[in-house]
Amino acid sequence: MAGTSLISPLGGKLVNRTGAKERSAAPAVSIKLSAWEQCDLEMIAIGAMSPLEGFMNEDDYNSVCDKMMLSSGIVWALPITCTVDQATADSVSAGDVVQLNDDEGRLLGYLTVDSKFTPDKAKQATKAFGTDDLAHPGVKMMMESGDICLAGKIDVVTPRHDPLFTTHRLTPVQTRAEFETRGWKTVAAFQTRNPIHRAHEYLTKCAQEITDGLLIHPLMGATKDGDIPGEVRMKCYEVLIENYYHPDHTMLSVLPAAMRYAGPREAIMHAILRQNYGCTHIIIGRDHAGVGSYYGTYDAQQIFDTLEGTGLEIDTLRFEHAAWSKKAGGMVSGKTFPKIEGDQIFLSGTKVREMLLRGERPPVEFTRSEIADILIESMKG
Ligand code: ADX
Repeated sequence: MAGTSLISPLGGKLVNRTGAKERSAAPAVSIKLSAWEQCDLEMIAIGAMSPLEGFMNEDDYNSVCDKMMLSSGIVWALPITCTVDQATADSVSAGDVVQLNDDEGRLLGYLTVDSKFTPDKAKQATKAFGTDDLAHPGVKMMMESGDICLAGKIDVVTPRHDPLFTTHRLTPVQTRAEFETRGWKTVAAFQTRNPIHRAHEYLTKCAQEITDGLLIHPLMGATKDGDIPGEVRMKCYEVLIENYYHPDHTMLSVLPAAMRYAGPREAIMHAILRQNYGCTHIIIGRDHAGVGSYYGTYDAQQIFDTLEGTGLEIDTLRFEHAAWSKKAGGMVSGKTFPKIEGDQIFLSGTKVREMLLRGERPPVEFTRSEIADILIESMKG
């Protein structure tokens, strides 16, 4: 395995549940995985969710909800489950193999069921998301999922049919190998689900000053309606890196994970995943993985202070809210420059969207013109 000199994966070794062969006789029960579950399946199979080898059982589910750790004591922040309706669950017994399909009924892999259980969704909502409000996109998705969980190890034949961004879709093994080739010992991961604006760019450049390399690692699995599509974002990342980053210290690869918008708990997941990819640091800025006003600005940073001794080795690079200061003539944060009324260029997401829809570029202090142009073009029609 590549990466012996790099940071250890969570639990000590990278899981690999890929490479299964299609069975000559199809199992009696096949299920269509949800968009989240399809992402999770791929993430587990390629080792990005090490030490998970499959979908969680009731012990792990409860332990994760209540204590933010697997029943083995290793840190884990969000339940990873495979849910079905009651009728499907009734047709399956422990020991059965179930076929796992994508939306179009294409085979992805198999689940060897070792148990089933009824998830406590109300508890899951308040523990994992910090709210049971159905207006929260992650809570809504979870509440609408099946009522029974099937637990067990997976064996994956095809992690995804027609995957996007194949030249930038490195598995943890491939990512670690690339870090070794580049001679990077310390690597900062940048999680994002947005185009890179100037504040994001500032964070990543600060991180580059203190690490060997930066992995721009946009999340490209299931996202909510209204988020900017992956194809558009990818164009933004490529143009930005080509024009404004040093190729020797910058790498782009996608994270095929689903976005749950779970704020602090999801920040921990983002860190776990990046440790598995071989990163030593992860950037956590303001309201990381948040949505609406469900989480405090720095909750996703503070939660890491509670994780001593739980196996998480990756370090957080924490940033306060950053914006362009007219007086300073550059990007600043609450730590580097005092707040002066009206000095910082702040635009809400809604305002930026309105400008782009009108074909107007937001100020270059907010977003580079190349990025604005791609976004304007994508919004036409
Ligand atoms: S996220 O859901 O992936 O967290 P986003 O793509 O907006 O959303 O943010 C990527 C990272 O940049 C996160 O760590 C977030 O906290 C951070 N971030 C975004 N905007 C700012 C900002 N203006 N100041 C500081 N950190 C920021």
